[in-house]
Amino acid sequence: MLSLTIIIGVLFGGLVYIFNYFRSQLIDNRDINKLPGPSGLQLLWQMLGPNSHCDKFNGMIAFNEKYGSIVKLWVKPFKPAIMVADTELMDKILTSKDHLVKTQMYDLLKPYIGEGLATTSNANVWRQSRKICNTAFQHNTVTGFLPIFQKNMDVFLETLKSETGKPVDTQHVIHLFTLDIIFESLMKQRFGFQEANNPIYINARVDYFSVLTERLYSVLLMNDWIFRFSKHFKKMEGVVSILKKFTLDVVTKAETARKDGVVIEKPKIHLIDILIDNNLSAEILNDQINTFILAGHDTVAQAMSFTLYELSRRSVIQQKLLEEIQSIVGKDSTAEITYKDLQEMKYLEAIVKESLRLHVIVPIIERKISYAIEHNGIRYPKDTTFMFNIDGIHKSEKYFPNPKEYDPNRFMPENAHRLRKNSFIPFSVGPRDCIGKLYAMLEIKLFVAKCIQKFEVLPVENHTLKMLSEIVNKSITGMPVIFKERAA
Ligand code: HEM
Repeated sequence: MLSLTIIIGVLFGGLVYIFNYFRSQLIDNRDINKLPGPSGLQLLWQMLGPNSHCDKFNGMIAFNEKYGSIVKLWVKPFKPAIMVADTELMDKILTSKDHLVKTQMYDLLKPYIGEGLATTSNANVWRQSRKICNTAFQHNTVTGFLPIFQKNMDVFLETLKSETGKPVDTQHVIHLFTLDIIFESLMKQRFGFQEANNPIYINARVDYFSVLTERLYSVLLMNDWIFRFSKHFKKMEGVVSILKKFTLDVVTKAETARKDGVVIEKPKIHLIDILIDNNLSAEILNDQINTFILAGHDTVAQAMSFTLYELSRRSVIQQKLLEEIQSIVGKDSTAEITYKDLQEMKYLEAIVKESLRLHVIVPIIERKISYAIEHNGIRYPKDTTFMFNIDGIHKSEKYFPNPKEYDPNRFMPENAHRLRKNSFIPFSVGPRDCIGKLYAMLEIKLFVAKCIQKFEVLPVENHTLKMLSEIVNKSITGMPVIFKERAA
């Protein structure tokens, strides 16, 4: 009798708990319901319907254009997500030192990069890691990497010579170049991906992104349990073990070199030395290295590809850039381009920025808020998920007149002051912005300047881009251009 009473008591208590939970969710999300957005059915169709990954992606990022700059998405019962293309609300959250927690989307990256800087949601772990890693991205350290960028650029240009006159899919070749750079500048080890290719590593990298994409666009595969029983799981395990083994070898080699008494420069500039010095656990050390490899090569490679692609289609802009380069370093197509030269090339900088505006590399970033906030009369409860639509902000008429037009002039010094605060945010803003932004801009600017100095870049006729976000924005139809060598 007593046990029956206990069972009934527990069941009743459970029901009351569930009832109160849903009631409080309903009350908490009351305001959010006032926001515009697609109906649950429309959203379900968008996420589960038979449309392609590309259609799903393009449909999602178009929600702000269709419904408004702040849109509610009932992705889960009682758990709305807010899609934002509004710089004021975005500022409130991203520039706060309190809302640092990332969402489930980032968990998809964890099999490879674990609790690294970009994925961890533990605020204390993040603060400590960011402080350590910041040392490797100081201004002087980054500009000190320029000779490494230049040396690898020479290899890239040499490789291109045999490819002139025919379509080259820049999306592929540039990744090898940026991989060489990331390993050499941050890990002090050069693997020569451009010369040797290393198909096992490169294919693992490609396969990693293909499984990641399957998960990103499938509500079912996002669930760890369902994913575990899918055909993709084994593939992911295989490729991740290849990628991680590669990193482990890099770390072991660096540690052995130090034990063997290899002299390390002072102050220490290479990320790997800084991380080893901080006595991190082996797991966190590897997670950080993998994070920087992933975040630091694919992103810049895409930015370089998009810029060349745009220039191939705009001969007037390309010619103007060539004239700027030649006015600063002379007409010799092999002349060295220094840091000071790059600083002087204002049109080059404007071109790179306009490419990053029109072709956002990381189109959506997400946060969960750590406490309730209010904005324009709407209360957002603690733990609400925010999806910041960087692509939507960059293509909004409110922030950029004629947003679909490629116009570098909007970033020239005489016009840039007209831009709204934090409307151009390819690297995000706030405490969790991109740690590698300076590094990335320097690498991209040198790359574009050297390519245009040496080659005329021509379009491949009738080619169209078809965009898909694999967290990083790519074109599934490639990004081909034709290189034509200029007279020396
Ligand atoms: C064009 C190139 C790049 C773009 C557009 C870009 C963009 C971004 C964005 C939007 C974020 C914020 C992500 C979020 O909040 O979820 C981010 C974070 C990050 N980026 Fe970049 N990035 C680029 C290059 C790089 C490079 C070269 C490195 C390193 C060498 C790097 C390392 C990181 C890391 C580690 C984070 C996480 C920072 C943190 O949470 O504290 N990125 N990046």
